[in-house]
Formats: sequence, C-alpha cells, structure tokens
Amino acid sequence: MDLTTYRDKFEQLETPFYYYDTQLFKQTLEEANRCAAEIPSSMVHFAIKANANSTLLQYVKNAGMGADCVSGGEIQRCIDAGIPANKIMFAGVGKTDKEIRLGIENDILCFNVESLPEIDIINDLAKEMHKKARVAVRINPNIDAHTHKFITTGLEENKFGISMEDMIAAIHHVQQADCLEYYGLHFHIGSQILNFNSFKMLSCCINKLQKKLDAAGIKTMSINVGGGLGIDYDHPQEHDMPDFKAYFDTFKRHLELRPGQTLHFELGRALCAQCGALITRTVLVKKSGTKQFAIVDAGFTDLIRPALYQAHHKIINLSGTGKRQKYDVVGPICESSDVFDKDIHLSTVQRGDLIVILSAGAYGFVMASQYNCRHLPEEYGTENLK
Ligand SMILES: Cc1ncc(COP(=O)(O)O)c(C=O)c1O
Repeated sequence: MDLTTYRDKFEQLETPFYYYDTQLFKQTLEEANRCAAEIPSSMVHFAIKANANSTLLQYVKNAGMGADCVSGGEIQRCIDAGIPANKIMFAGVGKTDKEIRLGIENDILCFNVESLPEIDIINDLAKEMHKKARVAVRINPNIDAHTHKFITTGLEENKFGISMEDMIAAIHHVQQADCLEYYGLHFHIGSQILNFNSFKMLSCCINKLQKKLDAAGIKTMSINVGGGLGIDYDHPQEHDMPDFKAYFDTFKRHLELRPGQTLHFELGRALCAQCGALITRTVLVKKSGTKQFAIVDAGFTDLIRPALYQAHHKIINLSGTGKRQKYDVVGPICESSDVFDKDIHLSTVQRGDLIVILSAGAYGFVMASQYNCRHLPEEYGTENLK
C-alpha cells in the first residue's frame, strides 16, 4: 500500500480515520478466489467479523464470495450488501432466538452449531416457522494453532465446538430433528496462523473423522475448515498478500474429500488486513528521562489489537523526513494499556505529523468503541479520496 500519494488528501481530513485501499482489496479477493479454484467445488466465505464496511462488502459480493457471520447484525449487513443468503453461514456459541429466526427466514446456507441445546433450539424455531434449517456441526479438533493464546480456538480448553468423541452423537441428534437437515462439519482452529503445519494437521484430523463418518454410514455434504490464515504484520509493504497458493495447496494435498463434497473456507484477516491503515495525527511529543512519547489522537478505542492481544503493527511517520529516533507511540486514553508500540524507530516526529498504523484493515474499525465518549473513526476508501 503506497500512502505517500495520498498524503495531501490525508492532511485535509479530520483524524483519526481508517483508509482502505479498495484496489488492493479487490486484487486480494481475486487472488484468493483464483488459488481456491484449484480445489474443485470449493467456496471462500469472507469472515465479516474482520471488516463489515458496506463498501468493502460490495467488493465481496462482486467477487462472488460467500460470507461467514457471527451475529444477526452481520447477516443483515450481508443481505443489505446483496450477498446471496445461500452463501451465508452463521456461527457462534450463543446465537439468540431473534438471530436464528433471521437466518431461517432468509434461508441461509447453514448454521454452524456448537452444542446439543443449540441444535434443539434451532429445530424448535424452524418448526415454529414451518421451515427447515441446514446445520453443520462445529467440531473442536484439539489442534494447537501455535498462535497467540487469545486467538486460538481449536483446543479442548476453548469454549468452541463439540468434542470429537461426541461428533457422531451430535450428528445423529441433528438427523433425528424433524426440521433440520445435516449439512456437514465445521472447524476453526485459530487466527493469525503462519505455520502451515497446523492446517496440515487439521486436514489429517478431518480425514480420520471422515473415516468414522463412513463407518457410521453418515453422508456429509460439506467440510468447512474455517479461517485463520495469517499475514505479515512486520513487512506489510513487501507482503501485501498472504501466500494463498501455498495455503490452498496444503488442503488440496492433505485433505481427502469425498465425491461431491463442498469445501468451505472462512477467511477474514488474510483478505482485508493489509488493505487498511489507521491514520492518526501527533498531538505532541513528550520527553521523559530517556523516553520519547509520540502521543497521537488515535487510541485503543480506534484500534484495540495491540492492547487486547499484544499485537504488533508496523507504524510509519508519513509526514516526517528527519533522522530516525526512538519513540513509544501512545494514545490519549486514560489507561496505561493505550500503547500502539514501544521503542520503535520513526523519522523525527513533530506535533501535527501524520502517523500511519499499517495492516489495520482486519479487526480494526469493527472493534472500535466510544470509551471516554470518543467518536468512532471515519472510514474512507480509495474512491472517496479521488
Ligand atoms: C469460526 C470462525 N471462522 C473464521 C474466522 C476468521 O478468522 P481469520 O480472520 O483469522 O481468518 C474466525 C475468527 O475468529 C472464526 O471464529
């Protein structure tokens, strides 16, 4: 993402704000689709939780991708964007009745269920509405994704999914429900995964489970391997897209699909993180002992990942040209965790300089809050800046 061409435009805007490179987003979706197409009957769903911006969702729709939603609000956002309901999957451990009804009413592709009580609830609601709902069972494969402990989801200790031992019983439970149709298996082992061996292990685990399904005479229409493909937060400008080919190849090589099975992917971060940046302005530079703080007008209310997950984002001084110096880049919020990074080298920072936090297109604006009665940041795409 080359931001220097937009510097003058950025100067005129109120900070902080998100900027999305929509051309890069479009190219990223196309590249993911192109590489996924190497696996016959595969389908990529954009994980809306990563970025629900309505303009970006138009690109998702135009790319022919489906959506992975985790709330009624996300389902509605996708429907409003024109993403066909038969490409929408709905996951989450605690779906409310209202959200389930919305999914049934729109005849979404499937509900990814995480517990037996949830299966009963969806069946009851479908019966009430004189409809049938498709259901995939989320299995916890107990695989270590070697990622940060707050974003791993596939371990036994996490709250997600049904254990492998209970898989057959859960599927029978779905099959016995009169208003449900068993669709397939769902997995998701975590996020920001860079070690492809975790995906290979997931594939091998699914192969074993499929053998169990064959032995039990259970026909499974679809396998959903979730999302989780990581991106390069350290070198976003050099690697503005993940290695989609290697990622999809891992599943192509290791996963043994049954004839007619559809393979679903639910990628979030990999599709949008590198397309977004948070643009903030330096309020002042404070010196304290040997430390220098670049205090900017964005805080964890705008981008919470560093405070929440100890996440690292590359930061640049878009205005600065002077010699590089060491800074802690911090926000104005009254919490000591309001730090974007410590001891990083930036071109000399002065009051008013534009500081850019890169790779912020995923889990950025969607997690923003109004703590301290702050305003939500604006979002601009390349189009709005032309
Ligand atoms: C079930 C499920 N699918 C997909 C995703 C998207 O993950 P990522 O953005 O890492 O691709 C998540 C993220 O938390 C998830 O929980």
